[in-house]
Amino acid sequence: MSFKYPPISPKLPVFMHGADYNPDQWQHDPHVLEEDIRMMKLAKCNVMAIGIFAWSALEPSEGTFTFEWLDRVLDSFAANGLYAWLATPSGARPAWMAEQYPEVLRVGANRVRNLFGARHNHCYTSPVYREKVAIMNARLAERYAHHPAVVGWHISNEYGGECHCSYCQDAFRGWLQRKYGTLDALNMAWWTSFWSHTYTSWTQIESPAPHGENLVHAMNLDWKRFVTDQTVDFCRHEIEPLKAVNVQLPVTANLMEGYEGLNYWKFADLLDVISWDAYPMWHDAADQSNLAAWFAMNHDIFRSLKGGQPFLLMESTPSLTNWQAISKLKKPGMHLLASLQAVAHGSDSVQYFQWRKSRGASEKLHGAVIDHVGHEHTRVFKDVAELGGALEKLTDVIGTQVPAQTALIFDWENRWAVKDSQGPRNAGIHYEATVLNHYRAFWDQGIPVDVIDMDCDFSSYKLIVAPMLYLVRPGVGERIEQFVAGGGTFVTTYWSGIVDENDLCFQGGFPGPLRRTLGIWSEEIDGLYDHEKNRLVLNDDNELKLTGEYETSELCDLIHTEGAQTLAVYGDDFYAGRPALTVHAFGEGKAYYIATRTEQAFLHQFYKQVASEAGVEQVLQTELPAEVTAQVRTDGEHEYIFLMNFSQHAHTITLDGQRYSDMLTAELVTESSLLLPPYGVRIMKRNKRELN
Ligand code: GLA
Ligand code: ZN
Repeated sequence: MSFKYPPISPKLPVFMHGADYNPDQWQHDPHVLEEDIRMMKLAKCNVMAIGIFAWSALEPSEGTFTFEWLDRVLDSFAANGLYAWLATPSGARPAWMAEQYPEVLRVGANRVRNLFGARHNHCYTSPVYREKVAIMNARLAERYAHHPAVVGWHISNEYGGECHCSYCQDAFRGWLQRKYGTLDALNMAWWTSFWSHTYTSWTQIESPAPHGENLVHAMNLDWKRFVTDQTVDFCRHEIEPLKAVNVQLPVTANLMEGYEGLNYWKFADLLDVISWDAYPMWHDAADQSNLAAWFAMNHDIFRSLKGGQPFLLMESTPSLTNWQAISKLKKPGMHLLASLQAVAHGSDSVQYFQWRKSRGASEKLHGAVIDHVGHEHTRVFKDVAELGGALEKLTDVIGTQVPAQTALIFDWENRWAVKDSQGPRNAGIHYEATVLNHYRAFWDQGIPVDVIDMDCDFSSYKLIVAPMLYLVRPGVGERIEQFVAGGGTFVTTYWSGIVDENDLCFQGGFPGPLRRTLGIWSEEIDGLYDHEKNRLVLNDDNELKLTGEYETSELCDLIHTEGAQTLAVYGDDFYAGRPALTVHAFGEGKAYYIATRTEQAFLHQFYKQVASEAGVEQVLQTELPAEVTAQVRTDGEHEYIFLMNFSQHAHTITLDGQRYSDMLTAELVTESSLLLPPYGVRIMKRNKRELN
């Protein structure tokens, strides 16, 4: 059966290709706009994000609105077949506003209010700021919500950070009152009897501060939850006046790579489409597979946020950045490869920061499609136009899905809790790196993965992997148990099942609500010094048919089996011979426990076996060379296979005997193997296989 998501905008049912565009910086030179339009068409760009930081140009003094320049830009876009994501300008505010209403400026955790300047420097709670934003957004909506060139709203820019002003303190207390009802309930959840921290009045509660409270872990968690909720509420407040005028026009907000400060899952319902900004530091290492896998994993998070709906790559650099320690050019091939990597993982766009370099201030040297030279005869421009040409050939891929049978749990609250907790390894628990190690094992094999949080529905997956599932919210242990009982395969590791949603330790034995499913009890855990190692030694004739031994480090969980079988044991120390890897046959399924942090080679072999046993399919049934991966998108009838070589060497890939045609050359692939040049990418179409 064929299924595609509708294009993000019916006005533009092709790949979106374009950039952040700041005509507000060039109002003194009308020739620039004309030239830009000419070159946008030449670059095969079709959509720009406009007005992201244009508040001063839109409202130069309080209550005076100057939309004429924006009318001209959007009208010429419409006349030239170009489109716009129109931004709300709340990411930066004019000086007059900060001067007149200092409360719009953010207060740090140290309780000092910022001065005017920079950007993203505002309070999300301030009634004045909310009012100013509501007025501005209503004006924009009134004027442009039905403009033919506008495909959607770009809400603010990269929401992030927190404010500790008195409005925010009051809002935090209100949030806590709604959550807990009584101080007794809050004191119990926060375990405030510890160090005599019991609160006897709501007014005593203050947000975490470096010079105040910061060791009540449950409070830290609630503060982070509050910051997310308050930012979501601010975003909703921004969206309301826009939707009031045209409910059809989609809204997006550009999110950030690996951003820890906001639980992005809470934005999923509010946004019609997810978008994000990707800036990999390519060419920093001889082997780039970990970097490529980290960005692949981020793409997978952003696709998974809305249940697999295609997302937008809203920003990437067409050449270099200006803020990395070393800002490096992309080597030939990398622009096409990195852009199509986003598409392979579910993006229906390739957008850049930025169309044209600013002449002054901090981003004047950040890569752009148009450089200070002002014309199109540059290497970067050619790369961009070439990509535009490639995207035009991929229109069939728009709206297709990534059919993942595997899910990786990477949960924000768990991440916050794991990293805040003080325990057996404060000098580097390496949560993200560990999650990436597990993800990487699938990337190496060309197996698509959804990256989900623990509240997602598990039923469509065959295999669920949850490294360090330290915090387990209510009901999750039960849902994992049902998943396994019903035939699913579950893998987790040491440092799982330790605390509940309030960061209170599970009583009665770790891994708490996972104990029955895993068939183990974790009695204690050993933190290893950085120079220490142990070994995971596979038992003879273990059912995964793995052999040999692997180095382990960082944490060694000392467990007892309670129904699970031991597949491998520790090789060293006083716990040599005790289980290091177990499997529990539970109901129709299996639950694996990896008790220690292992080297990558183990995860590679382990997941190869586990995936094949669980019936999880590789995109291409072939052994992929190192640094090469394969991904797939499908409409249910056809499959679009993206073969990507992130290495600086050419690699030959043996095909699996199916009939392929090349999407970029429109030719049949007649060879039985393909040569991928350094940083090479091929997109091949085949009929859908019947998956078991
Ligand atoms: C972020 C911002 C952009 C720009 C780029 C530079 O992603 O959203 O405005 O500053 O970084 O890389
Ligand atoms: Zn505030």
